[in-house]
Amino acid sequence: MPSDAPQAVRDICERCVGRIGAPISALREVAATLGAIEQAHMETVADVFNLSVAEVRGIVSFYSDLRTEPAGRRHIRLCQAEACQAVGARELTAAAQEKLGIALGETAADGSVSLEAVYCLGLCASGPSAMVDGRPLARATIKALFA
Ligand code: FES
Repeated sequence: MPSDAPQAVRDICERCVGRIGAPISALREVAATLGAIEQAHMETVADVFNLSVAEVRGIVSFYSDLRTEPAGRRHIRLCQAEACQAVGARELTAAAQEKLGIALGETAADGSVSLEAVYCLGLCASGPSAMVDGRPLARATIKALFA
């Protein structure tokens, strides 16, 4: 984390002021820029947008993309919603957990990979669906996840 992170967060927030959904936009940019949203970042966002820290924490806790812990260098998200479950998401998840030695919601101790649940990626007709490093993957297989 750069030592000027608090100022970086304030700069991000100030660029977002006046936009629709400005606090969410700012938090997304903070997460993308700094890798995770820390308590101090939430306090800065609350200050700039005249919100309580609890309100900002509520936003962060609602959106899974607003991470409070850094993701692994490789970030795998597996859809766990019904349409994907009907076509093998549970089996794919079990295979991925076994291959990586981590459970959903965990990051490998060496930071190499994180495995996360997601609830619908909009690829319901082509499940099981995944997102690997931000790229959607339809009809995901264990082989395709690690290609
Ligand atoms: S249910 Fe998995 S992508 Fe929609």
